[in-house]
Parts: sequence; C-alpha cells; structure tokens
Amino acid sequence: MIGNQVVEGQLYFDGCKLEELAKKYGTPLYVVSEDIIRDKCAEVKTSFLNKYPNTMAFYASKAFLTISMCKIIKEEGLGMDVVSGGELYVAIKGGINPDNIMFHGNNKTIEELKMAVTYNVGRIVVDSVDELLVLKEITEEMKKEINILFRITPNIKCNTHTYISTGQKDSKFGIPLIEEIIKEAINIAMNSKYINFKGIHFHVGSQLFDNSSHINAVKNTADLIKNIKESMDIEIEELNVGGGFGIKYIEEDDPKPLSYFIDAIMKTIYEKFNEYNLKIPRVFIEPGRWMVGEAGVTLYTIGTIKEIPEVRTYVSVDGGLPDNPRTALYTAKYSAYVPSKMNEERDKVVTIAGKCCESRDIIIWDLKVPYSIERGDILAVMSTGAYNYSMASNYNKIAKPAVVMLRNGKDRVVVRRETYKDLIALDVV
Ligand code: LLP
Repeated sequence: MIGNQVVEGQLYFDGCKLEELAKKYGTPLYVVSEDIIRDKCAEVKTSFLNKYPNTMAFYASKAFLTISMCKIIKEEGLGMDVVSGGELYVAIKGGINPDNIMFHGNNKTIEELKMAVTYNVGRIVVDSVDELLVLKEITEEMKKEINILFRITPNIKCNTHTYISTGQKDSKFGIPLIEEIIKEAINIAMNSKYINFKGIHFHVGSQLFDNSSHINAVKNTADLIKNIKESMDIEIEELNVGGGFGIKYIEEDDPKPLSYFIDAIMKTIYEKFNEYNLKIPRVFIEPGRWMVGEAGVTLYTIGTIKEIPEVRTYVSVDGGLPDNPRTALYTAKYSAYVPSKMNEERDKVVTIAGKCCESRDIIIWDLKVPYSIERGDILAVMSTGAYNYSMASNYNKIAKPAVVMLRNGKDRVVVRRETYKDLIALDVV
C-alpha cells in the first residue's frame, strides 16, 4: 500500500511501520518513498508526455538530489534540471544522460559554464545578456556547440509566499520582459558560431494551487514570440514552462492533479500560438516539489516538554532547523503525528521546537497531539520530501540525518547518517 495507513493504532508509510524505522535507523531520519516518486513519474507520463506530442519533463533536482534519485529519474526516462556545478556533478555521477540535463542559474560561474559545455549538457538556460556574452566567449574558445534557452521573467504575480515567487518584474532571475533586451540577446545568440538558440523558459513560482500564473505567463510569452517573429523573422522551437505545482502539507491545502496545470498550459499554448500563426513549440516542464514532496516523512524523537502555563507548551525534538529550515524561512506549515498513538484523540495543542540555539527554530506552531505525548515518543512530520534534505545544514554542528528509501514495503539506506567525524573531515590543521 502506497502512502499512509493506520493499522492497530500504528502509522505505516508505504507499508513500513514508522515507529520501527525510527528504532532501526535512529532519529532524526528522512524517510522517502520510492513508490510515491515512481507514481508521480507515471502521472507525468499519462498527463503530459504520452498525452501531448513533442514534450519532455525535467525533474528539478534542487528539491531532493541523491545518486538513488538520479537512478529513479533515469529509469523513468525523465531529464534533470540542475542549478550548480555540484548538482551537475551529482546528476552525471548518477548516470543522467547529459543530453537530458537542463542547466539553470542566475550566476553560473565561468567554471560551471565550462563544465556544462564540456559535458555537452542538453540545454543551458541563459539567465542574462551578461551571461550570454561569457558563454559566447567560452564556446568560441572551446570550439564546442551548445543549445540554449533564454530565461525570461514573464511579468506576472503569483499567489504564493513572496520568497518563492519568481515571475514578477523585480526578480534576480531571468531577462526582463522588455523586447529590446530580449531581441538584443537573440541577435547575439544568432551571431554566435557555437550557440544554438532554441527557445524560451519561464518559472513563475513555487507551491501553486492555481494555474492562472502559468496561463498568464504563456500568454505574455506568446505575445513576445509573435513580436519577435514579426520584427526578426525568428520563431522558437522550444518553450519551458518551469515547475511550481503545489502539494499537500496540511489539511487545508488543496493540491490539484498535474493535469489541471498541464491541460490549461497546453490549451493556452495551442490557442495562442495558432492565433498568432506560430509553430507549436516543443514543451518542457520542470517539477521539483510535486515529484518528491509528499514522498517524504521526517522522524524525530521527542525530548524536553516545557509547559508555560497559559502561554504554550513546547515539545522539543532531536532535529529542527538544520534538517528543515522551511518553517523559519517561509513560515511553512506541516502536519505531524505520533505514529504509535494514532488511535488516541489529538486534543492537546503544542508547538514542536527544534534543538538549535535559535528561537525561530520551530518546525510546527500549534499542532494537535495526543494528550499522552511524552519524552521518547516518535514524531512523524509529513510531506518533507522536497527542500528539506537538500536545504539541510550543520548549524550547531548537528550531523545530518540518514535518508532511508522505501520500495515495495522494504527499507534501505540511500544516504548514511553523518558522524561527528564527518563534521571535522574538511578541517585542515
Ligand atoms: N525550475 C526553476 C527554474 C526553478 O527555479 C524551480 C524552483 C523549479 C523549476 C522547481 O520548482 P517546484 O516545482 O519545486 O516548485 N526552497 C523553496 C523552493 C524554492 C524553489 C526554487 N525554484 C521551498 O522550500 O519552498
């Protein structure tokens, strides 16, 4: 059985008893369901790749990247979006075909650009005219061709936390939607011997439940392409519409199936491009959170419980900000359970605190838990598969948890737990 089940008062995830995983591997522990990730890959195929011709999906690896994740993505036939030399390195080591790699970033270093050209990555998404000029020089020096897309800021607002909103005009990402600048970029690309200009990319924002931002971004992009065709007689071959599809963290969240976004995006592309008499481009998507977010659970052990009468009760766990900085950074909300007490009423409101010397080190404000919650209980925080392991730090010299993957009811370690020795492994004396 995929997902959560309660059997005899015990919470199971993907057929595995969470309490037992905590005992077997220790806490904190990232638990990731390979079955859920593979289900998401299947949904990408039915709702997008097999439904619409001339399409490709790239998993945004910043959400969760390990060698085991690369293996899944490779086996499922998807591509990978990387944003740094480090992510590119892991993708290559993980066996991703360079041709299926999309390289992003608003400030790729010269070394990173050279690395991407050396590996022959499928696409570099050029973020600025400045970067284009650097890439032009690099390709001429290396005498190697490269396919590029231009990332544009599509000039739209979206309904999400401002820290994860990227499509608005005032953004560090992408070339602003100002025709003269984009035309200048295309001109430079067209006059570069080794640069093949393939098309346009945008990413509007993250954790979206509503498709209007994508639709508006497609419309703005179609208008741009129309003007480019009229004035420069150039059409695009490819359009990358980014990621951003939302997931369920708490009961009130109302995520939509992938088809809700895809069908609206594809409809708008067909309508607008046909209306303007433009060639229908090859369409790419880049989901990150949606592919892995609900596939992850973090297990902690409860330690100190402090009741401040008439104020609140702090329940502290053996992890926190270093393994999940999202509550502190984005006021993210999570649901969580005591996996061994699923049959008990959840009638006590507590705040789940981490163990760092940092007062914002809170994982969940005002969580309902069983009245009997006590030191030694395990706590399972749900939907931590995206941007937790990948954003983890060693603040307070706390060692990073292991990652255990579940498949067909079986568990295996895919990233071992850090040791104290690892914490000084890079120190030079
Ligand atoms: N493509 C590009 C160019 C992006 O910048 C991003 C995310 C994605 C795709 C994937 O977006 P997704 O499908 O995961 O929403 N650390 C933040 C999220 C930052 C997202 C940055 N860009 C968080 O924990 O909420």
